[in-house]
Amino acid sequence: MENKIQRLEEKIAEAKLGGGEKRIESQHKKGKLTARERIHFLLDDASFEEIGMMVSHRSHDFGLDKEKYLGDGVVTGYGTIGGRLVYVFSQDFTVFGGSLSETHAEKICKIMDLAMKNGAPVIGLNDSGGARIQEGVVSLGGYADIFYRNVRASGVVPQLSAIMGPCAGGAVYSPAITDFILMVENTSYMFVTGPNVVKTVTHEEVSSEELGGAMTHASKSGVTHFACANEIECINHIKQLLSYIPQNCEEDAPTLPYEHSGNEIRKELNQIIPQNANQPYDIREVINGTVDADSFLEVHKHFADNIVVGFARLAGRSIGLVANQPAVLAGVLDIHASTKAARFVRFCDSFNIPLLVFEDVPGFLPGTDQEWNAIITNGAKLLYAFSEATVPRITVITRKAYGGAYDVMNSKHIGADMNYAWPSAEIAVMGAKGAAEIIFKGEIAQAKDKEAKWKEKEAEYQAMFANPYRAAERGFIDEVIKPEQTREKLIKAFKMLENKADKLPKKKHGNIPL
Ligand code: HXC
Repeated sequence: MENKIQRLEEKIAEAKLGGGEKRIESQHKKGKLTARERIHFLLDDASFEEIGMMVSHRSHDFGLDKEKYLGDGVVTGYGTIGGRLVYVFSQDFTVFGGSLSETHAEKICKIMDLAMKNGAPVIGLNDSGGARIQEGVVSLGGYADIFYRNVRASGVVPQLSAIMGPCAGGAVYSPAITDFILMVENTSYMFVTGPNVVKTVTHEEVSSEELGGAMTHASKSGVTHFACANEIECINHIKQLLSYIPQNCEEDAPTLPYEHSGNEIRKELNQIIPQNANQPYDIREVINGTVDADSFLEVHKHFADNIVVGFARLAGRSIGLVANQPAVLAGVLDIHASTKAARFVRFCDSFNIPLLVFEDVPGFLPGTDQEWNAIITNGAKLLYAFSEATVPRITVITRKAYGGAYDVMNSKHIGADMNYAWPSAEIAVMGAKGAAEIIFKGEIAQAKDKEAKWKEKEAEYQAMFANPYRAAERGFIDEVIKPEQTREKLIKAFKMLENKADKLPKKKHGNIPL
């Protein structure tokens, strides 16, 4: 028996070495951790249980039968984060560049199937040169098997993808289907075709970082939700993110213990809105002044920053926040802001996370660029996402709520449960200046002093509509509140809504305007 145990130990040691010392050293030299080191930092101490450590590939072509590594380039298994079960796969770049073979794919599929049956998140730590080139179509099939499972699991269990090295070709599409993508600056890349192919086809000269680095995807394409300075920061972000999210779509997010102080008034909120309604302010001040201290985790921070989305806690409960940002483009809704917010709203709704909206929006962004790139279809995504969401939904209008954007931003009409407005709210079809120009066109044209007439009519419209009371008279606003009361009101209202049961009409699935 002892011999046999020794043989087992040797095999385990061999598997743990991946592609060997030299390649591990080269991985470290690039500032990257190995697949196993990443798992070590991600999971609770000693919680990792590996599955499929001895799996190796079945290929014979191009001399592959003479080059086998136990595990075949991916470490898979389960463990816990903060005591909660998660399934993990971590690609090992030291083995064929983490490329995906038939067996590598089978290992990933196995843990995805377990995650679905047992209702727990799947975390992918990606570091891969894409399809294992020597295997050809078998490897492509492996990718498709994963994509199919990603889609099946979407909305059932949370799926998180960390990109910790190159992710080329097929390697990008699985992360793209998952709920959140995190990238590491300077060591991770995502592209369908790399710089060399780009140069051949379009004659553009572009570096890997510029084409598909973390900041590129965080700010330009919006493909990634988080750009992290290094791998440890990335791993910590995964843990933090999971703390706001339930294990699966049947559960609620974990609630942190919260001691009610008896005083939830926040006087400082009264000071945020500037006297002049055209002056910007940072909506994050409103968010941070309202939610539990230090609980706001912003998602998609560098993309479409005219809208802010993220998770926070209110009296210990997880909530999802969507807020117009008056400090950027006056908080206008454009294509990117609409798609960013729509995807976030759908995630929260999939996983029973209540939604809180802070609204200060002058409308949709006009212009040929927006119209030709389909602001109609893209704006409709946000309208659709809010309208179909069945989780508790609350809106607070801090200032402007103009035009179609008023309807879209979680208005009472599209199913919000509670709608509050601050006394500074202006709820109207459009701003007073533009409105006066249109509805008093004739009167202004006939006036001797046109400018003075315009100003007079603008003031008239302003007095009538630039306030929350018309909407409150109709019941579109449930209560006009002092800013300082916001936190208290929201805590009570979300508690009141905690047993909300709402269902969509029976259907196969809706047809969101993609
Ligand atoms: C097999 C691969 C590989 C691959 C890398 N390697 N990619 N082996 N299949 N796809 C191996 C290398 O041979 C090398 O082996 C080791 O991994 C490290 O690779 P290097 O090139 O030395 O590393 P580096 O300079 O860091 O460059 C990494 C890289 C580059 C950018 C990922 O290797 C690369 O461009 N690889 C090919 C990417 C690609 O075109 N993939 C196919 C995409 S098509 P040794 O033995 O020297 O350590 C695709 C289709 C799927 O994925 C479509 C589904 C929809």
